[in-house]
Amino acid sequence: MDLKNITVLGSGIMGHGIAQVSATAGYNVVLRDIEQGFLDKAMEKIKWSLDKLVSKGKISQEEANSIYSRITPIVNLAESVKNAQLVIEVVPEIMELKKKVYAELDSVANKDTFFASNTSTLPITEIANTTTRPKKFIGIHFFNPPQLMKLVEVIPGEKTAQETIDLTLEYVKSIKKESVLCRRDVPGFIINRLFIPMVHEACYLMDRTGATLTEIDSAVKFKLGFPMGIFELADFTGMDVIHKATVEMYLRDKKVILPHPRIEKMFDEKKLGQKSGEGFYKYSDEKYERISLSEELSNKCNPIQLVANILNNAAWLVTNKASDIEEIEKAAQLGLGLKKPLFETAKEIGVKNIVNELKHLAAKHGQFYEPDPLLVSIQ
Ligand SMILES: NC(=O)c1ccc[n+]([C@@H]2O[C@H](COP(=O)([O-])OP(=O)(O)OC[C@H]3O[C@@H](n4cnc5c(N)ncnc54)[C@H](O)[C@@H]3O)[C@@H](O)[C@H]2O)c1
Repeated sequence: MDLKNITVLGSGIMGHGIAQVSATAGYNVVLRDIEQGFLDKAMEKIKWSLDKLVSKGKISQEEANSIYSRITPIVNLAESVKNAQLVIEVVPEIMELKKKVYAELDSVANKDTFFASNTSTLPITEIANTTTRPKKFIGIHFFNPPQLMKLVEVIPGEKTAQETIDLTLEYVKSIKKESVLCRRDVPGFIINRLFIPMVHEACYLMDRTGATLTEIDSAVKFKLGFPMGIFELADFTGMDVIHKATVEMYLRDKKVILPHPRIEKMFDEKKLGQKSGEGFYKYSDEKYERISLSEELSNKCNPIQLVANILNNAAWLVTNKASDIEEIEKAAQLGLGLKKPLFETAKEIGVKNIVNELKHLAAKHGQFYEPDPLLVSIQ
């Protein structure tokens, strides 16, 4: 199919960015929200972002103008999807709201129109089955901010047709992003399955060993090759996002995550991270502030428990045929910014040692820690 016309439903944090990258790739984009005021704000943000690219010399003023002119803001739903070949839904992460939006959308969109949801944590199959077109329904998970983040996870539901997968992968390529295909609709897909449980595990590590925030973060950064510490990354992501992902993942799979009460407490206390001025760390001004981490501090923490956690979840994805090692490494590199492949870190530490650590943790803290059969088989 010759894809030309895309409608983005929802013009918030993610929606306006997805509209911008789509228009930049030459698509005719309609941006839809429930109030004109939201669309005005989104169009202002897009203009600001394009102006910035012009001032940095990345695009010309003419290019910026034509990208901007390819985005049409429309409030009326039926009108907004009249010519859409693909609708990308980016409304808030509330299942009941998404279902309501799809019921309306399904009744007004052309029967050939494909639907893609940017949900981070909700099951694709369940949403798809509320529409009359589960074969034409898929998950397309962009990362924040879509203008900068290279990775997009593509998640077929149980009934998604190959044609829909092909179209989506082609679209991701056309907007100059890298896709990873999460072959099964599993809680957390790939990235959240690796990242969210590790935040909780880092809290347990702190409780169990007495290591400090900066010691753990330094070990994560210097020994595991993360671009920043895990607590720092959690603060950057926001405790609201982490809490929501935790609830949704744990609801569907008790094996994926062992929720630590500190996350819920921080969420309840509105310690959301950088955006609220306090999360694991305190932030004194609005500018992006980096925590001071060092190699010296990293030597005070043995992160094997964290490696064991992330690796066990990576192995689960392979064992359960949701992904393979190559795709997981690509996702970790582009989605989490890892400078060192996960399985390379594992080899350095020794898979046998990691399996032993998991067995030891399982004996002490329960079957959540049981090592995945894949790890046991390659140790
Ligand atoms: N923010 C992130 O970091 C991030 C990252 C990846 C994925 N996501 C996912 O993207 C989706 C949107 O998140 P967000 O952070 O952009 O939310 P947001 O709250 O910033 O934006 C959502 C927008 O949708 C609009 N909306 C509500 N109902 C609508 C409807 N019926 N039709 C059209 N628009 C409607 C809202 O007015 C709002 O402008 C969620 O599913 C979220 O899980 C978010």
